Amino acid sequence: MNGDNKIDFAKQRIIDLRRIIENHNYNYYILANPSISDYDFDMLLNELIALEKEYPEFITPDSPTQRVGGDITKEFKTVKHRYPMLSLSNSYSVSEIKDFITRIEKSIEGDVDFVCELKYDGVSISLTYEDGLLIRAVTRGDGTQGDDVTTNIKTIKSIPLKLNGNYPDIFEMRGEIIMPHNSFSTINKEREDLGLQVFANPRNAAAGTIKLQDSKEVAKRKLDSFCYFMMMDEGKMPFKNHYESLIAAKKWGFNISNFMAICKNVDEIEEFINYWDENRKNLPFDIDGIVIKVNNFEQRDLLGFTAKSPRWAIAYKFKAEEAYTKLISVDFQVGRHGTITPVANLEPVQLAGTTVKRATLHNSDFIDQLDLHYNDIVCVEKGGEIIPKIVSVDRSKREKTSKKVVFIDKCPECGSKLIKAEGETAWYCPNNQGCPPQIKGRIEHFIGRKAMNIESLGEGKIEVLFDNRLIRNYSDLYDLTYDKLFGLEKIITNESVDNISSENTIRKISFKEKTAKNIIEAIEKSKSVPFSRVLFALGIKYVGETTAKLIANSMESIDNVIAATTEELMEIDEVGEKIAISIKDFFSNEENIHIINKLRSIGLQFDQCKRQKGENQILLGKNIVVSGVFSSMSRDEIKQLIEDLGGKNVSSISSKTSFVLAGEKMGPEKRKKAEALNIEILTEADFLEMIKK
Ligand code: IVH
Repeated sequence: MNGDNKIDFAKQRIIDLRRIIENHNYNYYILANPSISDYDFDMLLNELIALEKEYPEFITPDSPTQRVGGDITKEFKTVKHRYPMLSLSNSYSVSEIKDFITRIEKSIEGDVDFVCELKYDGVSISLTYEDGLLIRAVTRGDGTQGDDVTTNIKTIKSIPLKLNGNYPDIFEMRGEIIMPHNSFSTINKEREDLGLQVFANPRNAAAGTIKLQDSKEVAKRKLDSFCYFMMMDEGKMPFKNHYESLIAAKKWGFNISNFMAICKNVDEIEEFINYWDENRKNLPFDIDGIVIKVNNFEQRDLLGFTAKSPRWAIAYKFKAEEAYTKLISVDFQVGRHGTITPVANLEPVQLAGTTVKRATLHNSDFIDQLDLHYNDIVCVEKGGEIIPKIVSVDRSKREKTSKKVVFIDKCPECGSKLIKAEGETAWYCPNNQGCPPQIKGRIEHFIGRKAMNIESLGEGKIEVLFDNRLIRNYSDLYDLTYDKLFGLEKIITNESVDNISSENTIRKISFKEKTAKNIIEAIEKSKSVPFSRVLFALGIKYVGETTAKLIANSMESIDNVIAATTEELMEIDEVGEKIAISIKDFFSNEENIHIINKLRSIGLQFDQCKRQKGENQILLGKNIVVSGVFSSMSRDEIKQLIEDLGGKNVSSISSKTSFVLAGEKMGPEKRKKAEALNIEILTEADFLEMIKK
């Protein structure tokens, strides 16, 4: 194949792959009917990623590869809404819904149909499509203007980047960004592990996520969406009613719930409400009510709007599910970073389909606010939250002799006096080197999949090793031998606060021949884990996987991290004062330095593997965008050369770009942008001449 043919072939394959991938996405995310295995899907996506890497001039904003994220938004642009984003009037009783319907029937002649829909508990979004392409996604903001969060929204798989079929040229789609329960639990577990405050409910988590600066992080959090309202300029709407518009929108690629119904009267509406009040607990995401909308667009126009909301729609809000039960006792749990979390043990009670017997009490302030006493009858609520919370105490039922719940002042595990950091609500056990749950928690973190990935060891086995005094910190793992492990065993009882409804589990942990052998092998293998993951594995408070990577890339070795000042650390992307101080605290602890030195002598990676830098650093401080194909070298070779000469490869053109290195077939959009920003465009020959100097 000659050069031109090869490029034409690649271009066609890119187009085909995009169509095939988006079609599988549609089957999976919209129709909930997967048409390919995850493995085969990944193979197609990887092929597309590789082709787009080789031919970046063919990358388009609607390519499924854009969904993996990567672009950073430093500040979200404020955008005025073309049509204001109004809210709905709320009602809490069916009688208010009856009033709403009577009002409408009085002002409209003839029959009125209503569409009942789920009221998704998330963050509302306005999506603008032009010629079938998603061009903008904006948050509600104050209703008149919101934040442009397009880059982040593009990572959500159920939001179409490109529409199919017979869609209007320009229109807006309104919908809700939600965080499904499984994504929510995964994220909170990770946050708890990192010593970060957990999200109170999926709505807060969704709101926090769409405002993250790093779209790659957004992509990881697996948000979802539902659309419920199409908007166009007056007189342009090609449908007679709302229901038809949503059915068409589903065909174009939007996620439209199957759970909507046309209702003709209050009885049918009430039936829909009652059904979902009972069955919402079975949904994999939160809803907080039902939205009732007039179906016919002409009738909607006749009804019009109040200043804040349409007269043709109303939201029925569910009451949070609650139950009364007795507080038996309070446990104080110690986390990996020493944080003390009080947990209420309750008399088991049925709530929203599960048996609740534990509820988090958050911190000491929360206990004080409730004025909680032992044996109190407490009201437990399960609203948007997954973990039930105690919302009130029935004081009339308090026994005269009952004792007030007092927050402990000593660690329940090691007896150290607890401390409270300034401005924080949580109490800590400061004995981080001697307190068993902190030690075990740190070792569990160290062996984790994203850290040292020491397979075959887990929470239970760590406990056995700890009890047998074989490990006191994570560096002791490297002193383990087959003989020390073989034959160890213990019966373990487990109970976790997240899993409120589960019974205690009993497990037997035993180190048989194969287990012991596997553990020793995995520990040995971990010595080649790269520096960024070792840095993450150390378990520095607030230093997650991504931050560790950024620090490792920027500092290049543990010695540089240890020597860096707080200010120097804060120069690293995503490292703020809180993280920088936490890093300094960690390395000012002698015991930590001692452990690091031991790990270093064992052979763990404490330097970032980098190619040797050349002496010629002619491109130092230059941000360079490489675009197109080159005759003297491959794109990857050119990029490597730029790095060796001290330059930095950046993916998109901005005012900070030093120059664009343009090969054959540079993308026209890139050229336009470079010209608009007055950025120099160098040819391959110019570049080679420049570096020769
Ligand atoms: S229709 C003119 N339908 O509830 C208002 N809203 O309090 C059009 N919401 O801001 C909104 N599910 O964020 C509509 N099926 C649904 C909804 C829904 C959730 C949210 C939306 C809106 C808020 C109104």
